[in-house]
Amino acid sequence: MKSPFILLPLFLSILNTNASPIPAPAPVPPNIPSGSTARSQLAALRVAPVGSQTGYSRDLFPHWSTQSGTCNTREVVLKRDGTNVVQDSSCAATSGRWYSPFDGAVWTQASDVDIDHMVPLSNAWKSGASSWTTARREQFANDLSNPQLIAVTDDVNQAKGDKGPEDWRPPLTSYYCTYAAMWVKVKYEYNLSVNSAEKSTLQSMLSGC
Ligand SMILES: *[C@@H]1O[C@H](CO)[C@@H](O)[C@H](O)[C@H]1NC(C)=O
Repeated sequence: MKSPFILLPLFLSILNTNASPIPAPAPVPPNIPSGSTARSQLAALRVAPVGSQTGYSRDLFPHWSTQSGTCNTREVVLKRDGTNVVQDSSCAATSGRWYSPFDGAVWTQASDVDIDHMVPLSNAWKSGASSWTTARREQFANDLSNPQLIAVTDDVNQAKGDKGPEDWRPPLTSYYCTYAAMWVKVKYEYNLSVNSAEKSTLQSMLSGC
């Protein structure tokens, strides 16, 4: 008698819409709002001068936290944002392909890819996170539910640093709508403020969306 499990892979491949020979588009972080929703959310954000950096440390935002088994948040995002990502028993990505939507570059080594915090940790600190609990900051730094984490070219992530959109925008202008919508969504979800230059930059980035 055949085990019903023999049919399981076939059944799953029928369910799996990615089985088509056409390559699936690069996965995007979840819950990116439409342009009009992002414009409404931006209008609702508190506008305040940039707060103090005093007391800030990356260690106050624990990451990368364990998500499941041996996999931490970075490894989960590498898998989510890449294609054909193979991981070893410790969850390290041993092969795969990563498209960086900030600059359009493609990488085949995980070491060339950083997981960007869309709203950088120190930017969050200066716009409200200094008063949070450590647990809240850990949630923010490891958030897989909002568009806060994205796999991008490491050099581009480093060029961004802790800059907001008023000081740094991704090289691909075609990504401005998505970038601004992600930024606004995260600030909105976490009740973080924007400064006035940041707000007007985001308004112009979202104007054509
Ligand atoms: C949002 O942040 C401001 C300033 O820190 C605070 O006064 C307000 O209570 C917060 N709102 C919510 C819903 O947490």
